[in-house]
Order: sequence, then C-alpha cells, then structure tokens
Amino acid sequence: MSHFALSIQVWYRQNHRNLPWRDTKNPYKIWLSEVIMQQTRVDQGKSYYYKFIENYPDVFSLASADEQEVLRLWQGLGYYSRARNLHSAAQQVVNDFDGVFPNTYKDIKSLKGVGDYTASAIASFAYDLPYAVLDGNAFRVLSRYFNDNTPIDTGQGAKLFKTYAEEVLNREDPAEFNQAIMEIGAMVCKPKNPDCENCPLADTCLAFNEGDPLQLPVKSKK
Ligand code: ADE
Repeated sequence: MSHFALSIQVWYRQNHRNLPWRDTKNPYKIWLSEVIMQQTRVDQGKSYYYKFIENYPDVFSLASADEQEVLRLWQGLGYYSRARNLHSAAQQVVNDFDGVFPNTYKDIKSLKGVGDYTASAIASFAYDLPYAVLDGNAFRVLSRYFNDNTPIDTGQGAKLFKTYAEEVLNREDPAEFNQAIMEIGAMVCKPKNPDCENCPLADTCLAFNEGDPLQLPVKSKK
C-alpha cells in the first residue's frame, strides 16, 4: 500500500465524521447521497438525504414517484436538472436493469446524471471496485501532495490527476481510501486555512515541504 493511502486511512479511522451514507453498502442510498451532495454542504445535504430515503426507500418507489413531487422535495437544493436526472435514472434502473442497481463502472455511468466522479464513488463505496474519486477535495489534496500546478480544469489536468490518484489508490480498500481523501480535503487540507500542522501527509507533502499549499490547486482562467 502507498504511504499516502496508509497515512490517510489511519487518520480517517480516528477522525472521520459519522455521515449517514457512510454506514451503508446499499448502492441506491450511496447514489442518492452522492447526487444530493454535489455542490451541497454536508449539513444541508444530510436533511435532504433523510427526507429522500424516508419518502423513497428504494429505487422502485423513486421510479414510480410523480416528478412534481420529486422536484418539490428537492426544493432548496438548486440545480433542478439533478432531481430530474435522479428520477429518470431510477426509471432506467427499473426498466433496463430489472430494478437491480448496476454493479459495473460502465453500467453505473450509463445512468442519467452519473459522470466519472459519481460512478467512481458508487463503484468503490458499494462494490469495493478499484476506482479513485476525483472531486474538488481530491484535486486539492493531490495537487498539494505532488506540488503540481497543472490546471485541474483542463483535459491535461484531468488526465494527470487521475494518474496521481490511481498511483496512490489503495486497491485493497478503495471505499475507505476514497472516503479518507475526501475527508482530509474537507477537514484538514482546506482551501483557505489548511491545517498542515495536523496533517498525516505533512512529512511527504511536496507543497508543504517545498512549495505553498495556498497556491494550489490552480484553475485555468477561461
Ligand atoms: N461529498 C460528496 N460525497 C461525499 C461523501 N461520500 N462523504 C462526504 N462528503 C461528500
């Protein structure tokens, strides 16, 4: 296992927040949580997650729900296309996969509204498949750890940071590894006030030791 993976996973076991979707291997619940959590803060996301699980406990109840009702429950989260995609993807699971949530990366990604990030999250969290998540947190942690100023929002950056992520990924436990990199990004390797003094990666983080964590990640101006 990489030093990176070992360090963040040991830290994660002692320091992570208990979030409701971290206690489950249910792909439906994991998918729901990841769609809700896109562009949403944890505090706000939690209440919507509970509300959706209560109203739609499984993919069948969501698929057969009235779209207006789904949109009404979504009110306040914004980006309403996410709610429409959610509803439509539930119908895809019921109609195209006999109601059994798909369990390969390719099939998961075929669902409406599911991109690389969400497919990797579901594949790893629900099925322990070796896919590394690249969300804003992971980009920030990796750009600092490797002290790399390649803009993250370019084709070149996307490829490069995927390579870094796959280099350090723990294939024995991609689920815990992915939760850990996101949690380090949210709790320690923060955008403005990184807590480098208490970071388990401080000994080998190149930005901390040779550069400036605050200057990373770089985004192209566009
Ligand atoms: N934001 C998006 N996915 C998350 C997860 N699995 N845990 C914490 N925050 C998240």
